[in-house]
Amino acid sequence: MEIAVIYGGTSSERDVSLSTGKGVIEALRRKGYTVTGIDFNPEELSPIINLKADLAFIGLHGKYGEDGSIQGLLDILNIPYVGSGVMASALAMDKSRAKILFDAAGIPTAKGTVACSGHSLTASPYGYPVVVKPNREGSTIGLTIAEDDTTFQKGLEAALEFDDHVLIESFVSGRELTVSVIDHGNDVEALPVIEIVPKNKYYDYEAKYEPGMSEHIVPARLDDDITKKLKEWSVKAHKELGCKIYSRVDFILPNDGSDPIILEVNTLPGMTPTSLYPDAARAVGLSYDDMVDRLVKLTLN
Ligand code: DAL
Ligand code: MG
Repeated sequence: MEIAVIYGGTSSERDVSLSTGKGVIEALRRKGYTVTGIDFNPEELSPIINLKADLAFIGLHGKYGEDGSIQGLLDILNIPYVGSGVMASALAMDKSRAKILFDAAGIPTAKGTVACSGHSLTASPYGYPVVVKPNREGSTIGLTIAEDDTTFQKGLEAALEFDDHVLIESFVSGRELTVSVIDHGNDVEALPVIEIVPKNKYYDYEAKYEPGMSEHIVPARLDDDITKKLKEWSVKAHKELGCKIYSRVDFILPNDGSDPIILEVNTLPGMTPTSLYPDAARAVGLSYDDMVDRLVKLTLN
């Protein structure tokens, strides 16, 4: 069985992807697979077009990797891959469109609106603080929590560096929670909920990837009814978008005691040493290597 791990790429999450790719390649080799690693370069597609692998494991994050682009290319080449297909990937990446589907499915979301380049917004429609982020990005890159009109303007400019659509969302003060999902086809399972306690004020890029900069509490200490809701909504969100094999669904549990709100579904969750999905897998007895192997076997089934 030959597996190609496609990683790296040119998105702003390249560094994260290098780490995910390294982890996945090493795990697959330890499991006895023949592995080719491909550092993806959209300007040099021949390593992908000439790929002879039985399966691809996409270790990319962000643009071209997580948005359905590489999935479409692999579909054309008739190479099966681990994870979601074109439509689910594109929808999950597009936070504002995913929110419409979550709302329709009855999964609470934060109030939000989209601004494009050339917008005439001078102040937040939701007061302050307010979240300003590129509509299609990951790892909190380009995200600002604006405190006033000035930082709001700066936040819009910063987000527009990464995407021509910016999502403005009312800020919900609360606990950061995430649910990893594993999809057995006829049965979609939510793994134990993780609470993330960042050392920084917010769960920002540094808190995500610098070892020791956040604590992961698994399982999160929550009332049973909240845990049940989070798991149900994660599975529902995964299915609503049409995801496959695995995903990770991020939530905020508001401090005011209201229901959790969904932030997004990640179709290619990070697999780095500080990432959440591997921690959730470990909580159900799956080592990192077993988890990667499980995802491969689920795809081949
Ligand atoms: N976007 C990063 C890789 C994550 O959600 O894990
Ligand atoms: Mg994300």
